[in-house]
Amino acid sequence: MKAIQYNEHGPAEVMRYVDLPDPVAGPGQILVRLEAASVTPFDWKLRAGHLRNHFTLPMPSVPGRDGGGTVVSVGEATGEFSIGDRVAIMAGALAQGGYAEMIAVDENHAVKIPERLSTTEAVALTNAGLSTWIAVNTAEVKSGDKVLVHSGAGAVGGLLIQLCHHLGAKVSTTCRSHNRDYVLGLGADRAIAYDEEDFSEILQDQDIVFDLMGGAVHDKSYRVLKKGGHLVWLVADQIVDRGEEFDVRVTRAVVTDDRSALQSMMDLAAAGLLKPQVARTMPLSQAAEAHRLLEQGAISRGRIVLTM
Ligand SMILES: NC(=O)c1ccc[n+]([C@@H]2O[C@H](COP(=O)([O-])OP(=O)(O)OC[C@H]3O[C@@H](n4cnc5c(N)ncnc54)[C@H](OP(=O)(O)O)[C@@H]3O)[C@@H](O)[C@H]2O)c1
Repeated sequence: MKAIQYNEHGPAEVMRYVDLPDPVAGPGQILVRLEAASVTPFDWKLRAGHLRNHFTLPMPSVPGRDGGGTVVSVGEATGEFSIGDRVAIMAGALAQGGYAEMIAVDENHAVKIPERLSTTEAVALTNAGLSTWIAVNTAEVKSGDKVLVHSGAGAVGGLLIQLCHHLGAKVSTTCRSHNRDYVLGLGADRAIAYDEEDFSEILQDQDIVFDLMGGAVHDKSYRVLKKGGHLVWLVADQIVDRGEEFDVRVTRAVVTDDRSALQSMMDLAAAGLLKPQVARTMPLSQAAEAHRLLEQGAISRGRIVLTM
């Protein structure tokens, strides 16, 4: 099979388009011919070596945290999937990733793709969708909550807006000025352009803030929460927890390969209640260029999806 692989941490150029032996489905596994895989901030941060304090990545490494395609064989002790099923898969952080034409994964790391979704759309909903579902459940969003979603034009932020809106929350979000209409179209009630305005001077008494940025954005977010409010953060730039000082709860949303979370997102999309956001597609061979674009902050309005 063709795959993207790197042997050392470094710039995007360490990634090579190579030939590798086809994987084989072991007991409890399915073999999937991949058609698509999403490119996430985690992928480039891991490749660049920024996460070396958290993970020792076995080399050589095939990147990618998710993928979508068709089941081509099933191992012993599987029962749920058949050859020909269209599935979305979660690839472990340290296992072979989705930047490849084939992958063998445990059956409990896959869900069927609803008919309504293309494989590309399903992939845009896989890693980003897991992060979204887990963050929203960590925050316990309910109808009527005033919620601020940072980076609403990003892949996770766009799904957070949609899910919080669906749950009946009143959603404010931050984005660049040219993305205002886009985030309002996803269901935000208010868009605050971070290149023109300071959200911390506009909002107050929020019940929940979703912080996908860390750093200065995290720090300013305390000011817009009501006392007893909840600041839920995903791993990005470093944060300083000032919860006690501001009398707010501060919780990290711990994103795991939770199949039931992924299934819930697929069910919502199948019902037309969430729309996966695909910023653009690129061929697998251009993975290095996709990483460069993401690192430069040149992509918004959803995921880059690699196609095979
Ligand atoms: N396991 C975890 O904890 C976990 C899981 C998923 C994601 N994350 C983190 O969450 C972050 C977002 O992930 P993603 O996949 O959604 O990334 P993404 O699709 O690359 O989105 C990044 C977005 O950030 C926005 N942005 C940049 N500077 C901003 C600012 N000062 N204020 C508000 N928005 C700003 C940009 O919006 P504009 O285009 O409008 O400028 C861009 O659309 C990343 O840092 C990622 O590492 C962590």
